[in-house]
Amino acid sequence: MCGIIGYTGRMAAQNILLDGLQRLEYRGYDSAGIAFFKENTGHISVRKTAGKVMDLRAICDDENLSVCGIGHSRWATHGGVTNANAHPHKVGDVVLVHNGIIENYHHLIEKYHLMGQLKSETDTEVACAVINANYNGNPEEAIKKAVSELKGSFAFCIMFSNHPGEVYAIRNVSPLVATYAPQNGSFLASDLTAFIEYSNKYFVLPEYHILKMTKDGITLNDLDGKTVEPEYMTVDWDVSTAEKNGYNHFMIKEIHEQPDAFERTVGPRIKDGMPDFSDDNIPDSLFEGIKDITVIACGTAMYAGMVGRTLIQNKIGLPVKVEIASEFRYERPTITKDTLVIVISQSGETIDTLEALRLAKSRTDRTLAVVNVKGSTIARESHYVMYTHAGPEIAVASTKAYTVQVAALYLIGARIGVLSGEIENDAVREFIAKFRQVPEHIKSVLQMEDTIRMYANRMTNAKDTFFIGRALDYTLSMEGALKLKEISYIHAEAYAAGELKHGTIALISEGVPVIAIATQSNVYSKVISNIREVKARGAYVILVSKDQEIEDNTVCDIHIPLPDIDDELTVFESVVVLQILAYYTSVGKDINPDQPRNLAKSVTVE
Ligand code: M6R
Repeated sequence: MCGIIGYTGRMAAQNILLDGLQRLEYRGYDSAGIAFFKENTGHISVRKTAGKVMDLRAICDDENLSVCGIGHSRWATHGGVTNANAHPHKVGDVVLVHNGIIENYHHLIEKYHLMGQLKSETDTEVACAVINANYNGNPEEAIKKAVSELKGSFAFCIMFSNHPGEVYAIRNVSPLVATYAPQNGSFLASDLTAFIEYSNKYFVLPEYHILKMTKDGITLNDLDGKTVEPEYMTVDWDVSTAEKNGYNHFMIKEIHEQPDAFERTVGPRIKDGMPDFSDDNIPDSLFEGIKDITVIACGTAMYAGMVGRTLIQNKIGLPVKVEIASEFRYERPTITKDTLVIVISQSGETIDTLEALRLAKSRTDRTLAVVNVKGSTIARESHYVMYTHAGPEIAVASTKAYTVQVAALYLIGARIGVLSGEIENDAVREFIAKFRQVPEHIKSVLQMEDTIRMYANRMTNAKDTFFIGRALDYTLSMEGALKLKEISYIHAEAYAAGELKHGTIALISEGVPVIAIATQSNVYSKVISNIREVKARGAYVILVSKDQEIEDNTVCDIHIPLPDIDDELTVFESVVVLQILAYYTSVGKDINPDQPRNLAKSVTVE
């Protein structure tokens, strides 16, 4: 949940650390801190504060010429948001930053007699003390001994006061990537956005390997001391992709990137008009003979799965279940060897999804990860991976990642349909031809931004809102509700329109906004009846539909017409409307939609 960074080289470290932390801030923005060797002496200085990276900048020296340091941007887990709990932590000769959770810290406090000696309430300071207690001048030995005692997830970036110019790292589960760029030095971070301006090559630090960085290079050893060659990868996007490029927020920039993200995800996977995953090394045998599908994910990724479920089940007749990863982990799985398990994750590091994947792998050899971040843990641990190519998603609220996740599921569904013989080749070709038009449709919706922004003004004072729809529109409304609540703090509930009358309609009163989505022809008139029911009880209805004109304008207060497209593809248009609505509601309430309270982009804790 936190962002960590380390640098050693010939350039001034402070700005590299602060700029890197700014890019990592999406991972946590409660507190921030850096530590650095003072002009290559054995003295390590620490600057840290509760607040954002800009608050940290304000307490840093302008003249700092240190060339080696570490940094941290925190999302609080153990202990409140205070200066003392901010990282880096320092105990004796050891200074470190940490992303993850040390589960057995109570036991370690007792074992190392730390009670009364710690300055913070964090599990991290305990880990720091354990490394220090095991340190007798040899950093690798101390790290090795300490991690053998730690339970939980961690990515540590560590400095030892009598080893100036050196930065060490080790991880279990929590992500860390690193690089050595001969001109610029050695870098490591939770995410490569932190150092992409210095290197377009990086490697994922293998778990339980000790990384040592100096200005002249890096060494990577396993815990037996054997040197391992890092597996470098090349980044396929540049630093501008991780910047706002003139937009006020990353979220609205990422909303606008959806046509391109869709094309990058779908285009290369269409060959001769048909879905083809040979470039992904995903064999048809993965899909052949499957009896059912289980989709596992969290949050937005799970809602993408809900859309995929409705489409695949209705088109192919295969049973599809969508499981909330955090629940799935503690239930008795119904997965068999003939179940295709699809795990979806933008970050590829959500701990609940990762653990659910591990459980699923104990039942089937057919796991397929739909992941955005290359080389992430979920991508590496699943049997097969289909990367979405959304590019870095920085805003906490997921937008373009959702669209490409749904697109990937549509492609997977089409491929399964072909292989199972449930869909004729010609029908698939026809579908794919229309599918390829989606980016143009999204662009048309984006042109309505200013109009939707006006409608958002109506939402800013709302306390409760409801998103209703049927069939695909219902599954989509869940994502619409999540988007609104996470960035505007307005209570939003998604409801199957036909289910309202079984209880929830009691909550509708004068002026309550109801966002009704009515794009599915087979249930259109039913949804309109459901809308009338809420309208009759005073709801303020915003209707999203493919109608260009509404015959009876008493049915809604505002109508947002969508460009005409096949029913099964409307989700790609409607979701953009709901994203823009949520974005401007947030902005209208003076909230920073990129960094909503209490949230962080990657949830690497349970
Ligand atoms: O990285 P993942 O896709 O695994 O993340 C899953 C959820 O945490 C994420 O989608 C979350 O719900 C977003 N904040 C939604 O906008």
